[in-house]
Amino acid sequence: MIGLFFGSTNGNTAAVAGLIQRELKEQTGIEVELFDIADYYLEEMLEFSHLIVGIPTWDIGQLQRDWETSIEELDELDLQNKQAAVFGLGDQVGYPDTFGDAVFFVADKLESQGAALVGAWSTEGYSFSGSWALREGHFIGLMIDEDNQSDLTPERVRLWVRQLVDEFGLALSESSKS
Ligand SMILES: Cc1cc2nc3c(=O)[nH]c(=O)nc-3n(C[C@H](O)[C@H](O)[C@H](O)COP(=O)(O)O)c2cc1C
Repeated sequence: MIGLFFGSTNGNTAAVAGLIQRELKEQTGIEVELFDIADYYLEEMLEFSHLIVGIPTWDIGQLQRDWETSIEELDELDLQNKQAAVFGLGDQVGYPDTFGDAVFFVADKLESQGAALVGAWSTEGYSFSGSWALREGHFIGLMIDEDNQSDLTPERVRLWVRQLVDEFGLALSESSKS
C-alpha cells in the first residue's frame, strides 16, 4: 500500500528510509516497501496509492546522482489519485544556501504528474540561509541533517510519521494510540 522510493549516495537517506519503514510498521502495522531507485524503475510507483520519496541534495543544490538519472521517468507516470510525501537529507552547516534544495525538484515533478503532496514540516530547530525546499514558510517535506543533527533524527522521523498517518488517512494501531 505504501511504497518508499529513495536515492542515496553515502547511505544516510537509505538509513532514514529504514527508520520511516520501522516507524510506520510500529504506529500502524502497515508494511512499507522500500525501493532504492538505483535498482528499480520509478514506474513501480504506479502500484501504490501512497508514496514516500527520499532524496539527499548533492553538489551544491543538485539532485543526488540516481535521481539525476531517473527523474525524467516521472514524466511518463500518471500520479493522479495518489498522495505523496517527500523527505530530504542535507547539511545546513556545510551548505546553508542550498539546504535540501533537491527536495523541491522532486516534489515539483510529483505534483506536476498529479500527486497530492502532504507532509509539510516546520523549519523550527534548523539554521540555514536559503532553501528551494520552502513553501509558505515550511519545508515541503521532512528535512533531516545527519551531518549536524543526527541526534534529532529518530524523534523527527517519529513525529513526521505520526503526521503522515493522519494526512494519509491511515489508522493507528491499538498499541500506539496513547
Ligand atoms: C559534495 C557534497 C555536496 C553537498 N551539497 C549539499 C547541498 O547543496 N545542500 C545540502 O543540503 N546538503 C548537501 N550535501 C550534504 C548531503 O546532502 C548529506 O551529507 C546527506 O546526508 C547525504 O545523503 P546520502 O548519504 O543519502 O547520499 C552535500 C554533500 C557533499 C559531500
